[in-house]
Amino acid sequence: MAQQRMNVQAPVKRLFAKRWSTRAFNPDKPVEKEQLASCLEAARWAPSCFGEQPWHYIIADRFADAENWHKALATLAPKNQLWARHAPVLIVAVAEHAFSHNGNPNRWAEYDTGQATICLCLQAMQLGLATHQMGGFDADTLKQQLAIPETMHVMSVTALGYPGDVAALDDDFQPMESASRTRKPLQEIVHAGLWGDAWKPPAAAGWEARYQETSVERLPWFHHGLDADFERALAQSELTEGAALDIGCGPGTQTIALAKRGFTVTATDISHSAVESTLQLAEAENVSITCHVDDVLDSRLSDPFDLILDRGIFHCFDENADQQAYLATLRRLLKPQGLLLLKCFHKDEKSEMGPPCRYHETDIRRLFADGFELIEAQNTYFTSAAMEKPPKALFCIIRRLAS
Ligand SMILES: Cc1cc2nc3c(=O)[nH]c(=O)nc-3n(C[C@H](O)[C@H](O)[C@H](O)COP(=O)(O)O)c2cc1C
Ligand SMILES: C[S@@+](CC[C@H](N)C(=O)[O-])C[C@H]1O[C@@H](n2cnc3c(N)ncnc32)[C@H](O)[C@@H]1O
Repeated sequence: MAQQRMNVQAPVKRLFAKRWSTRAFNPDKPVEKEQLASCLEAARWAPSCFGEQPWHYIIADRFADAENWHKALATLAPKNQLWARHAPVLIVAVAEHAFSHNGNPNRWAEYDTGQATICLCLQAMQLGLATHQMGGFDADTLKQQLAIPETMHVMSVTALGYPGDVAALDDDFQPMESASRTRKPLQEIVHAGLWGDAWKPPAAAGWEARYQETSVERLPWFHHGLDADFERALAQSELTEGAALDIGCGPGTQTIALAKRGFTVTATDISHSAVESTLQLAEAENVSITCHVDDVLDSRLSDPFDLILDRGIFHCFDENADQQAYLATLRRLLKPQGLLLLKCFHKDEKSEMGPPCRYHETDIRRLFADGFELIEAQNTYFTSAAMEKPPKALFCIIRRLAS
């Protein structure tokens, strides 16, 4: 099964991160009755209002009962049929709308049936099975075809089976199997106390998640050895020693390269996993550095540096307050005449993936007008083994003016 890409805003367990709705099922591999029972058992243990368990499931299994499977398939929306015909099992979820203890309407019946069904899907994923829920079907015909009582509400049909070959799908569906999965940001769907009051996830959470779900070598910014732009700038500056700070050190490759050149390097990152990775790399390379968790927007560092490296942090801050906090930290931590080497996405880079802010030379000149001097700005690229088409970047050499 193709693995879809997603950007999590906070770390989540594999169970939640890896479930998704594939269209590629293996038509030749039946779902064992034991596996199916485990999925249904997971649904059985879902919570429900008054413990009513208002859900029912009808199993249409092509290998066990081709006739009813065909009947269920025929009620699906034509577009759903195009891929669901490969799924060996179709599970119809039905909600009973009256409480059994008093016959009153159960307005949570649909909610509870949905809860049970996601439990089924997550259990299936744990067993190596794939699921895809559908709302696109003709409920009346389905009811009639599968002898579902009139009072029941058919909520969904879930395709279940083992993952299959993407190439066997119709051309229209193939790109969907590798497209990025997206969601509304937490800020849009979570309210703090009152409706409409902003709730923000912790800044570190998204980065932490990124480092936890991907090995550092596969991150788009991973660059083995010192980035050529930094290398050239250092050669040009003739700076060969002194106190250097690598802010947002990430995998730590730039930190280690600087230390090997003779700088006394401190590295910081907001992500614990990034710091861990940098410390491990330093140990493996037998290099001495200082590295700890620190937020550049609210830094606990106090001693100033001769050189600061920013390879890919500044462009992460899209709010003016954050940009100003970043600049305040740099004014405090860069010695007079000290150098900031800054590499960020270029405004001409239009790809959707990447940081929220992109810059032209003029933007950098304006933003760094107070206390800094832009010495050089070069159009360049963010080269990395993980990216086939390197994004356009802007590389800047900035000097701290004496205050
Ligand atoms: C109630 C419900 C109805 C859905 N109906 C359809 C459908 O008719 N056809 C389809 O292709 N996908 C359908 N989906 C799948 C959603 O499009 C899918 O869950 C959503 O895009 C998020 O993708 P993910 O499940 O891969 O995270 C449905 C999902 C749910 C929960
Ligand atoms: C694009 S990555 C670049 C990593 C590294 N400089 C490199 O070139 O491999 C940006 C890094 O900045 C870190 N970061 C983001 N916001 C930060 C903040 N407020 N303070 C410190 N680090 C931060 C992230 O955790 C991430 O490791």
